[in-house]
Amino acid sequence: MIGETQSLKIYSREKIKIENQEAGKTLLQIANENDVQIDQACGGNGVCTTCMVKVKSGMENLNEMTEKEEMMGLDPENPEVRLGCQCSINGGECDVEIAF
Ligand code: FES
Repeated sequence: MIGETQSLKIYSREKIKIENQEAGKTLLQIANENDVQIDQACGGNGVCTTCMVKVKSGMENLNEMTEKEEMMGLDPENPEVRLGCQCSINGGECDVEIAF
């Protein structure tokens, strides 16, 4: 799926929409490339939780929760809360809120 153009929207605190992103990119990569502010104290290594986001819709279009996310205390049974640096888009639409 990497390289395919997908319809993706990220809602920052200012509710900026970002569309037509490549599948396989993480939410943090997409935010960085589009000047959307998202905290990233560990530089995207999955060890700080400052990039935490809330998935509003399109959860089925994201990768499964990673081992790093589980190690940081995120609950696979509650997959609407993800780490932006570990969460990638597989395809289709997705709405994510940078809520923390
Ligand atoms: S940037 Fe640190 S966990 Fe994502």
